[in-house]
Amino acid sequence: MTDAPVLEMRRIRKTFPGVVALDDVDFELRRGEVHILLGENGAGKSTLMKILSGAYQKSAGQIILDGIETEIKNPRHAQTLGISIIYQELNLIPHLSAGDNIFLGCEPSRMPGLIDQRAIFQSATQALGSLGLTIDPRRPVKDLRLAEQQMTEVAKALSLNARILIMDEPTAALTEHETAELFATVRRLKEKSVSIVYISHRIEELFEIGDRVTVLRDGRSIGTYKVRDISKAELIRLMVNRELTEQFPKEREPSGEEVLRVEGLCTDSLKDISFSLHKGEVLGIAGLLGAGRTELARAIFGLDKIESGAIYIKGTPRKINSPRRAINFGIGFLTEDRKSQGLVPLLSVKENVCLPSLDKFSKWGVVNAGEEERATGRYVKDLRIKTPSLDQKVLFLSGGNQQKVVLSKWLCSQAEIFVFDEPTRGIDVGAKAEIYQLMNRLTASGVAIIMISSELPEVLGMSDRILVMRGGRITGEFSASEATQESVLQCALEQ
Ligand SMILES: Nc1ncnc2c1ncn2[C@@H]1O[C@H](COP(=O)(O)OP(=O)(O)OP(=O)(O)O)[C@@H](O)[C@H]1O
Ligand SMILES: [Mg+2]
Repeated sequence: MTDAPVLEMRRIRKTFPGVVALDDVDFELRRGEVHILLGENGAGKSTLMKILSGAYQKSAGQIILDGIETEIKNPRHAQTLGISIIYQELNLIPHLSAGDNIFLGCEPSRMPGLIDQRAIFQSATQALGSLGLTIDPRRPVKDLRLAEQQMTEVAKALSLNARILIMDEPTAALTEHETAELFATVRRLKEKSVSIVYISHRIEELFEIGDRVTVLRDGRSIGTYKVRDISKAELIRLMVNRELTEQFPKEREPSGEEVLRVEGLCTDSLKDISFSLHKGEVLGIAGLLGAGRTELARAIFGLDKIESGAIYIKGTPRKINSPRRAINFGIGFLTEDRKSQGLVPLLSVKENVCLPSLDKFSKWGVVNAGEEERATGRYVKDLRIKTPSLDQKVLFLSGGNQQKVVLSKWLCSQAEIFVFDEPTRGIDVGAKAEIYQLMNRLTASGVAIIMISSELPEVLGMSDRILVMRGGRITGEFSASEATQESVLQCALEQ
């Protein structure tokens, strides 16, 4: 890292109707540095980077690239200036090969109009190889692991000669091992003097990979710090500006009453799953990516075909062959993939929250708008959903705040059994604690929760019992008092 700034953003302002997303933000990026952008959900991180990558136009302020004031007109213009962004939602085309994706739009050709497949293959191998990767560029992207897809995005950015690479929550869906792979790639990029802006809610990561960190709060820049000069506690304080409650405030007394029992459940990817769930209990499900945890949730919610086995709800065997039926039996499912399954982006916050519980708010077909308003308002307050009003379209909320809306939607429904798949993914540290408090309130009122999570501290901190899955089977069960990080991990890994 040298001290020369490749980029300066000065007094950047961005307003949307009813929202000041960025208020005079300064940001500076040096050659070969990894600069972390940190802030709560809705603080303005993605907006600042969307301005840099040409997706949004700033309302005011200056962008200075290599000392020259520059207007970034659109994403294509940003690319020609050497700025690339990797969104959390990847932008590759699933059925094309990795190589085709890398050179999409700028295919090497010997004759105009003719695409040279061999040249693509060679250049792609070279691009991937320069990152130390051994991905076969002929493989379709849909067959690659998520981390490999992400690396392909990085290779694509580099083939465009990116000097500034923006990564918006790149590790949110990666396993620990894949995260390590990505970090190795990031280090290699640094050596090539690429400057990187890195956004993540995992604070531990910034100490591993970051050089400097800029904290945003409510659309303002709070300051820029050298990572080695600042502590985690201090960063959290700068970010949230209030006292946080204890991280895992578990206070629970499950009653013995069984609300759900699964016996010998088999599906395409699950083998002989049996367990029970009790009123007021949080049952944690740990395991590595691909262990079958989400498949278990899908089966219980009627999304996947059950081949054999039985599901009992409050002692009665029930056939759950559609989500509709699952909801009727009092089951709620917070999916891991919120974008495609959780929200209707063009509807308002209020409409999304109240959607699955319309029955609750209407009598003889007449919706009680006041009730809806009150219920939604409470969740917006409890979970600190950042929105200018209850009528804002969900599309316009920040990523983390969209997730909080999905969560509210289910909390507001009358479900008695919840399946939460990665409930805090992409959620900032402050809001995490609030989600845990809400889980406590739910269990106190007799609700039972199955919580799938890849974050072991969260599983250990919030569960009363823990099941570990591997290869579609349950490979271990622990009570909260006997489980340790090591014992759970070993159970998840063992061959
Ligand atoms: N297109 C838009 N229209 C209206 N408001 C918007 C739009 N894009 C962003 N906002 C608002 O700007 C603010 C900042 O959002 P931004 O997406 O930058 O947050 P973020 O820091 O990336 O949060 P997260 O950690 O949740 O991803 C939010 O209040 C958001 O609702
Ligand atoms: Mg964001």
